Amino acid sequence: MDGGPTNSTIVADYRQRTPRSEALFERARRVLPSGITHDARYLDPYSIHVARAQGSRKWDVDGHEYVDYFGGHGAMLLGHSHPAVIEAVQRQMSLGTHYGSSHELEVRWAELVCELIPCAEKVRFTSSGTEASHMALRLARAHTGRDKAVRFIGHFHGWHDQVAAAATSHYDGSLPPGVPQGTADLSILMPADDPAPTVKLLEERDDIAAVIFEPSGASWGQVPLPPGFIQALRDATARRGVVLIFDEVITGFRWSSGGAQKALGITPDMCILAKIVAGGLPGGAVAGKREILDRIDFAASAAAKRDKVAHPGTYNANPLSAAAAVTALTLLRDEDLAEKANRTASELRAALRQVLVEEGVPWGLYGASSTFLIYPNPGGEALDPASFDPLRLGFAKLKAQRSGPLSGKIRMGLMSHGVDIMGAPGGFVSATHGTAEIDHTAEALRRTVRALRAEREIKAA
Ligand SMILES: Cc1ncc(COP(=O)(O)O)c(C=O)c1O
Repeated sequence: MDGGPTNSTIVADYRQRTPRSEALFERARRVLPSGITHDARYLDPYSIHVARAQGSRKWDVDGHEYVDYFGGHGAMLLGHSHPAVIEAVQRQMSLGTHYGSSHELEVRWAELVCELIPCAEKVRFTSSGTEASHMALRLARAHTGRDKAVRFIGHFHGWHDQVAAAATSHYDGSLPPGVPQGTADLSILMPADDPAPTVKLLEERDDIAAVIFEPSGASWGQVPLPPGFIQALRDATARRGVVLIFDEVITGFRWSSGGAQKALGITPDMCILAKIVAGGLPGGAVAGKREILDRIDFAASAAAKRDKVAHPGTYNANPLSAAAAVTALTLLRDEDLAEKANRTASELRAALRQVLVEEGVPWGLYGASSTFLIYPNPGGEALDPASFDPLRLGFAKLKAQRSGPLSGKIRMGLMSHGVDIMGAPGGFVSATHGTAEIDHTAEALRRTVRALRAEREIKAA
């Protein structure tokens, strides 16, 4: 934390507008590493502190309003503070927040997941996506009696040790600090630009328990998958008795009400869910084939004369998360809010792309479902925003955009015009975003690229 890029009007404006956030950051950095609580919230010189959120908007402690595309890291498909979710959580709050017992809402929650998600014959709740990915890999190992998991470079499955290397850094497979070599060795890292090497690997080896990936492509589509990739893996894993796991922590209930698997028409053996699945409160889930989930089941394991897979977790399916989840999933199902957000995001992408075209900015604007991503072309290559195709760039270039100083300036520039995005740079659209937000965001992008051009941050094509 060096106080932020110097000699930048964009950064100076940001600092000038956000003195209360800066003061809170000064307190925070004394007690929180980097003054933050999630690596993705890091911003140099400091990030805003938010006081409240409603629908598509949030307000910082300095009183500024933002159209929000951080979207609770993708959890808030319904928008912030949905009245029905608030009512359900408040009602539950007065009935008790933890019974240490089974309760009806967790049954209803599981029924909704099984109704909506094609692969879900049974479901086990966890407290986060990280825990769900941990459990899914354990289940796959128990089910197959094999140890290895195939993962793809840049695909993120939470922060536990087995999925740490090559997720957000160490793309060469080297060991991130604190991760034991033996645990990292349980993963076989493969490139995701072509399914052929992975299909060959699956044919050759007999020690692979699972293949896990983000069906959006790495980081909710920042690096999209080539056509045919998912079907090729579905076919090869089915042939070889390998458990195919979709990481639907982002895509679940967003790519469609039944996740990416319903949108694609390809059903995995298991999937992991988090974020939207818990209605904006903490929660996650492993869902999939009965025979695999039954590895956690006491009676099924006893009947099969095998040791069961252990799974405790104090806050699994806690009543507050279950109340939010049941309300949110019911709304998502009945009003097809995923489709509504998808339509808005498609219009937003077109409007933002048009700004790049009109302003002559050689960047890419892309994304699937209710997301958008900006490729700010850090290398200054010849690039036409009107015909930008991320697949032509490949992993290294698409990933190079992430969380660098230029991304930080784009974010701060947009914030000065009332828009907050994620560091990718890009963001999540909710079912409460609409035409007003699209117009506001397009204007904010126009002003931001003009400011960036004045600072020579937009390289000539
Ligand atoms: C694709 C994917 N998988 C897993 C996770 C981990 O989920 P959580 O943050 O709930 O542990 C995330 C979180 O961003 C994610 O995007």
